Amino acid sequence: MNQQAFNYGSYLQLDKILDAQHPRSKPEEHDEHLFIVIHQVYELWFKQLIHELDHLHELLNEGFTDRAGAVLNRMLKIMKTVVAQIDVLETMTPLDFLSFRSFLEDASGFQSLQFREMEFALGYKRRSTLDALEGTPRWESLKKRYDGPSLWDAFLKLLEGSGYQVGPRPDVTQPVTADPAVQEVLLDMYRNNVKLRRVAENLVDLDEGLQEWRYRHVKMVERTIGRKPGTGGSQGVAYLQSTLNPFFPDLWEIRSRF
Ligand code: HEM
Repeated sequence: MNQQAFNYGSYLQLDKILDAQHPRSKPEEHDEHLFIVIHQVYELWFKQLIHELDHLHELLNEGFTDRAGAVLNRMLKIMKTVVAQIDVLETMTPLDFLSFRSFLEDASGFQSLQFREMEFALGYKRRSTLDALEGTPRWESLKKRYDGPSLWDAFLKLLEGSGYQVGPRPDVTQPVTADPAVQEVLLDMYRNNVKLRRVAENLVDLDEGLQEWRYRHVKMVERTIGRKPGTGGSQGVAYLQSTLNPFFPDLWEIRSRF
């Protein structure tokens, strides 16, 4: 057989992927390999989620609500998959983690460009986060997400295109916050437009899936390092608890109004 031929390994570039696990602990601590692999798998899923988010924007802009719903559902399934992976990492005890933690130095998920890209694309924009990461690889694409409309902005545009009186947000670089005027429109839409309501419910599903990830992550952090500060320099659990907020607050605010 011709070893140079195009095949499974070359198509997937497995030589690169399987050569990318380099534990730093000396002597090597057994669990560091798991820690690296889990984070790499996460980053691959983040990449896929960003890919889906871009597609979703196009579909919403073109008014293809059924297909947009299918993409949102796929994103939710990915979130469920990555949440389930926390169970694997939780097999690592605090002592297992401590055995190599110092080798991580200042490195932390805090610095995940793709995670921030997702947050910005979903509408959770923060200038301070953008500035703090300046100079790191992929920063330009993060800046593009910051400057561009978020998923929530695309949804508002879809509503407007369907005849609802909801203007664009005046500044798309601002974080999405609850807006009583938008909530009035949503209440009307939920009662009268089944297709748009379905998309809105898919957004709620995804939002809940993202919050589930945040919740499970903070619990994993608490059981692994307790109340110690993070390697990224934050307060750790206290900081992470402050991030347990919805991405699309209006869709949650209206729940008590039906
Ligand atoms: C034992 C495992 C883990 C521990 C102890 C841990 C700890 C922490 C801590 C303390 C923070 C707060 C920032 C800091 O000061 O460092 C943080 C943030 C973060 N971690 Fe983890 N983490 C773990 C696993 C993971 C995994 C598997 C991922 C997947 C990519 C991840 C992604 C993130 C992200 C994206 C943030 C930023 C969250 C935000 O700012 O809202 N972490 N982590």
